[in-house]
Amino acid sequence: MKHSTLLLSIILSLLALPSSAQVKPAEPTLKEAFAGQFLVGVAVSHSFIERNNTPCLNLICEQFNAVSPEDVMKPETIHPAPSVWNFGKGDAYCKFASDHGLKALGHTLMWHNQTPDFFWLNEDGSVRTKEQMQATLVEYVEKTVTHFAGKVYAWDVVNEFISEEGGYRNDKGWEKYYPGNLDELVCLAFETAHRCAPNAELYYNDYNMWRQTKVDGVVRLVKMLQSKGIRIDGVGIQAHWGLNYPSTHDIETTIDRLHALGVKVMITEFDIDMLPFSKEGQMTGKAMYDPALQRDEFMRYLNPYADELPASVDQEVADRYEQIMRTIWGRRDKIARVTFWGLHDGVSWKNNYPIPNRKNYPLIFDRKLQKKKAFHQIISIPTKN
Ligand code: G3I
Repeated sequence: MKHSTLLLSIILSLLALPSSAQVKPAEPTLKEAFAGQFLVGVAVSHSFIERNNTPCLNLICEQFNAVSPEDVMKPETIHPAPSVWNFGKGDAYCKFASDHGLKALGHTLMWHNQTPDFFWLNEDGSVRTKEQMQATLVEYVEKTVTHFAGKVYAWDVVNEFISEEGGYRNDKGWEKYYPGNLDELVCLAFETAHRCAPNAELYYNDYNMWRQTKVDGVVRLVKMLQSKGIRIDGVGIQAHWGLNYPSTHDIETTIDRLHALGVKVMITEFDIDMLPFSKEGQMTGKAMYDPALQRDEFMRYLNPYADELPASVDQEVADRYEQIMRTIWGRRDKIARVTFWGLHDGVSWKNNYPIPNRKNYPLIFDRKLQKKKAFHQIISIPTKN
């Protein structure tokens, strides 16, 4: 080859290479973007593990460094009947986490929901005595926490015990044994958990934690445990939020108030319900399950994106995610973990709550596991500041 031809071909091949200005830097993963600030977690649907759903499991490992078991470590799964104990699904979750270096949470020991009636009722329907109920509860916490000791790093010990007004809730099970004041029960659960797994971190977890009257009750509960020298390491703010609530001011106030207690503060069940009637937690209750609401005339209004999500609404969800994550980022020195409640829109509990059979879009990956606008906007927060 002549010199001039060689030179020409070198110049041409150099021109064909993208210049450094043209190369788009690879987008970080969630765990990379927030590394050194807080853990980024996701609730794992057990079906991913059971059916070896490789795309979903790979996405979890790629993006997150912490996991929560969405349902399989609740009493109805582990101890569905007096003589039945099922640790298998929880073990599979722990193995998945440890095989991939993910921090595994235990969720949740004491909750009014997904707990079998035999905790409170005899076979003939009569109410069990306080001693019987306590014995069942202590046995449950002892066996479960001992079984998973060293496999989970932390437990949501008590879940959703405080009412919107700040007292204890009074809606199922426990309260008849401790009228008006469940301190004794809360202490029993935390003490028993600590005795069985002295190295595990122990948390209180609740929803509607932007409502300051509710935070009053949680602050009181934490101080009560602390004053008795009972271990409590953190409080989980569930964060099942909507497009127009809560205010960022309320979120900041809650983070500040909880952090002032000297415990870890975590966003534990983050999703943004973008459908009509997106009330957090139990506010809308069973009335929304009325079969009449499944009729066409209601569903047209209540389930407006049954076919697809308009780009403008996807953008609205993304902007809301960005607004909330910016608020959290602004308080990052006070936040230990942010966990999304589900991997992708298709597996979110929000497709069936508070109204069943709808198509919701509350997460940051879509049904095809693609990153949504919300993902891209969240991930750019650390570098935009
Ligand atoms: O176990 C049955 C199964 O046998 C049956 O085939 C299937 C058919 O629908 O239902 C299964 O039960 C479901 C259960 O999850 C276990 O998968 C229930 O229908 C379903 O309502 C239940 O929902 C869970 C919900 O807690 C129950 O309150 C959601 O998946 C779970 O995301 C949600 O998580 C809670 C947190 O633990 C605590 N904070 C609130 C959050 C949302 O409610």
